[in-house]
Amino acid sequence: MAKTVEKQELTEVTEAQIAVHWKEEEYYQPSDKFIAQANMRDKQILEKFGLANFPDCFKAYADMLTWFEPYRMVLDTSDAPFWKWFVGGKINASYNCVDRHLTKYSNKAAFIFVPEPEGEGDVAITYQELHTRVNEVAALLRALGFKTGDRVTLHMPMVPELPITMLACARLGVIHSQVFGGFSGQACGSRIQDSGSRVLITMDGYWRNGTLIDHKVNADIAVRTAKELGQDVDKVLVWQRYPGTYSAKTPMVAGRDFFMNDLLKTHAGKKVEPVALPSEGPLFLMYSSGTTGKPKGAQHGIAGYLAYVTATSRWVLDIHPEDIYWCMADIGWITGHSYIVYGPLANAATSVLYEGVPTFPDAGRPWRIAERLGVNIFHTAPTAIRMLRKLGPQEPRKYKYRFKSMTTVGEPIEPEAWRWYYDEVGKREAVITDTWWLTETGGFLGTTVPAIHAMKPGSCGPGAPGIHPIIYDETGAEVPKGSGKAGNICIRNPWPGIMQTIWGDRDRYVKTYFAKYNRKPKSKDWRDWPFMCGDGAVQAADGYYRILGRIDDVINVAGHRLGTKEIESACLTVPEVAEAAVVPVQDDVKGRVPEVYIAVKPGVQPGQDIINRVIKANEEVIGKIARPKHVYIVPDMPKTRSGKIMRRVLAAISNRRDVGDVTTLANPDVVEQIRTMVQGKEVVATKEELPEDIAKFGQVE
Ligand code: WTA
Repeated sequence: MAKTVEKQELTEVTEAQIAVHWKEEEYYQPSDKFIAQANMRDKQILEKFGLANFPDCFKAYADMLTWFEPYRMVLDTSDAPFWKWFVGGKINASYNCVDRHLTKYSNKAAFIFVPEPEGEGDVAITYQELHTRVNEVAALLRALGFKTGDRVTLHMPMVPELPITMLACARLGVIHSQVFGGFSGQACGSRIQDSGSRVLITMDGYWRNGTLIDHKVNADIAVRTAKELGQDVDKVLVWQRYPGTYSAKTPMVAGRDFFMNDLLKTHAGKKVEPVALPSEGPLFLMYSSGTTGKPKGAQHGIAGYLAYVTATSRWVLDIHPEDIYWCMADIGWITGHSYIVYGPLANAATSVLYEGVPTFPDAGRPWRIAERLGVNIFHTAPTAIRMLRKLGPQEPRKYKYRFKSMTTVGEPIEPEAWRWYYDEVGKREAVITDTWWLTETGGFLGTTVPAIHAMKPGSCGPGAPGIHPIIYDETGAEVPKGSGKAGNICIRNPWPGIMQTIWGDRDRYVKTYFAKYNRKPKSKDWRDWPFMCGDGAVQAADGYYRILGRIDDVINVAGHRLGTKEIESACLTVPEVAEAAVVPVQDDVKGRVPEVYIAVKPGVQPGQDIINRVIKANEEVIGKIARPKHVYIVPDMPKTRSGKIMRRVLAAISNRRDVGDVTTLANPDVVEQIRTMVQGKEVVATKEELPEDIAKFGQVE
């Protein structure tokens, strides 16, 4: 296809194919020792998962699960692009993650919970204990009237009660929707409303950076927000961080709020048969940011999702039941769902669950935990790697842990940070998988299979087995590998981990992920439905992909996706604000941080007080992660003649870059005023090219 693209056409689309200065990095090879013990050593694995063998190659994934009734069809495309995997089977995720391990691993720890306060002991939970606790919670949920298909919102911190509650839901076919614990009560409330949950499960408090935070207060705000949006919450179930003690100051509401520990007393020792659910039944919702302000609930199904995360945990993370695995992500994000809860447990892993902040009380904490518990697989995000490197570059040397493999996920990692991770954290022994994927995709899209492929800093590698990426330019022409050009990375084929739909919004699902490159909207052939990931990418001549970041209006802050519209509407809740525009700014530790520009209403005096309230509004509406680095009150927004705010210009100013030609704007003079306000009188702009995600920021309408 690429060959037919005329040179002429290419020059016309250069805007969308911003050249990427791509310095080739050297390869790193896995050690013989690692290869010898790896779960996946078949050098032909990518060929075996080639498109010629699609979709039957994925039977191998389904075979890793225990089925109550076998499936009849691998992939049903009749309702394209709403794919159905392993159709006709009956299965239960809770059974696969817990019950089936009892014969062999009942006394092995499923989780080792590490509280943030260092004086508090670790808590090991064996598979037997996990079974008991999941059953008791399932019995309680059933007694409360929950049925298959009901939704329940969870707003919980990193404690064992979170996976226990999720697995109890999964046992009954109740769809859980866990909202990241660091999100505000309001953000939780809007997700309660969207999912139609009548019950919220939360916890009274948890430790974060040395403070026992009152988390229950967020439940009250969430319930109020949901009600304002039209959704009643009948019950709030409150776990206690210290059972028997209430750790929050916020009062319990009589008749609405109940302590889980009290309710569970009447269910002690009860058993609940895992329900044999259809393969395509929904397992959970995970809300994520998109280009509009409305959160979108990625709906993941039982069998396809579970098969996918089980297989990738085994082959890519290389989890064996004997390993001690630690994924230092939050279960409130997709990484935690897939690679702390479902994938590792389905593989009978022993997994560390850490409550707190990696750098509390100092940057040696993760390495102390790793040494004490004998962690040998470590999984984290670039933002944590950068932070640990900044605060304690030599800390890993002080501890005697040994990792065999490590993962990075969530945002692009700079080769420099990668090398520190490899040299210092991995002590030049551990392999690194750089796993690129999204909430919507359930599991890995781009990654090396660690015993087979060499590593290359900054590149995720080829597509995961059975994942066939393709990069398109704006016109839908394939961008060839080795061309040095960037484009929109898409996946040609469906895979079992892909989301089923956006909860309650089929049209948005089709529009967001498929419409741009689908030419036959009625087609039932999967080949007509490449999945658009929303990332810019380049493919090197060796076939490895380098992900450049989001190309929609989503800002990836420390690996957390925040929609610009969400931030801007939070700013507009401050009554004096007339207009708001947010842009991503490069940050050494967090990757990107939001910076906000506001214009105030006529007659309003600009002042620090407004700025403070805009910051507070972001923390209240979204959460502390959305706290803008700066808020600038500008006389006017740079606008096109048709009145659109030129976020691209603001992004250039915030990132100390040249704003380019602004003469076509309706108000070009304001650009220099804003530039001086942000950068000072001197011209500080560098000519250095902006990263793709920022360069393209604000161009998607
Ligand atoms: C980014 C997180 C580069 C990407 C699993 C994607 C990455 C967004 C990587 C999804 C990686 C994730 N290299 N970029 N290894 N992993 N991303 O939904 O921009 O929270 O679109 O899922 O994170 O974020 P989400």
